Amino acid sequence: MRIRVLGSSAGGGFPQWNCNCANCDGLRRGSIKAKARTQSSIAVTVNGADWLLVNASPDILAQIQANPELQPARTTRDSGIAALLLMDAQIDHVTGLLMLRECQKPLPLLATPEVFSDIAEGFPITKILSHYCGVNALPLRLDAGFLPVPGLDGMAVLPVVLSSKPPPYSQFRECPRPGDNIGLVIDNPATGQRAFYAPGLGEMTPELLALMAECAVVLVDGTFWTEDEMQRLGFSSKGARQIGHLPQSGAGGMIEQLATLPTSVRKILIHINNTNPILREDSAERAVLTAHGIEVAFDGMDIAF
Ligand code: MLT
Ligand code: MN
Ligand code: ZN
Repeated sequence: MRIRVLGSSAGGGFPQWNCNCANCDGLRRGSIKAKARTQSSIAVTVNGADWLLVNASPDILAQIQANPELQPARTTRDSGIAALLLMDAQIDHVTGLLMLRECQKPLPLLATPEVFSDIAEGFPITKILSHYCGVNALPLRLDAGFLPVPGLDGMAVLPVVLSSKPPPYSQFRECPRPGDNIGLVIDNPATGQRAFYAPGLGEMTPELLALMAECAVVLVDGTFWTEDEMQRLGFSSKGARQIGHLPQSGAGGMIEQLATLPTSVRKILIHINNTNPILREDSAERAVLTAHGIEVAFDGMDIAF
């Protein structure tokens, strides 16, 4: 089984269209050592032809072009995307659904009832899509253990409730419901190995760490280096945890949390915000990650397990 990272950036991408922070400006000028990144999405495959798209980012069309494997061209209208699954209803994870409206059948879409409610009401994508291809809504059960993925034999997924935040447009922004944000354990029955994906993770729990300890690889929230990253730059009045992302540095931060996992677990940060100093490959912060055995995802990264 293989994960292809389609987009390793947080909302806005890197560089972000209107941002002139040291990273975005430096990347445009070519004065920093860093790679451009598109918005948050991965694709998972067993056979290399049929894929589960996890999140549909605003950059989906460019991501499909950049990853020809998603385009097997078996018939005149065709895609390798056999099913889609959403981790939350954030704009960077759902807007791409609108770009897939030419699909020949209703989009097979797995998401929690909470996410379906946000993309029917606050940001009514499923209503809009009903005038195009429509959506085949496949509600994810959170109490049923590992679930098969329709159209993708040999893959099972376990949705895990996470503490984070529904999107700013959601009527539930300040009163989150279990199911607004999930993590995903992806099981490879052929090898018995598992991967864990959680691009939005606001709080670590002992239960979650226990689940991650059983995985061969974990791809987790790498949005911010510090709790006050957006505040210090004057970009937001809110801290990282307040917007649903556990920062890497500091007490109880992601680095400390990942350090408790067995060394056999491959640790990768994903959903990196454009302000994060770890994007600079020669930064002191990146060196700290390397010293802790933590990798930083990039667009096009392949992860086999
Ligand atoms: C988030 O996860 O908080 C986002 O990247 C927000 C967004 O898409 O604007
Ligand atoms: Mn996001
Ligand atoms: Zn920036």
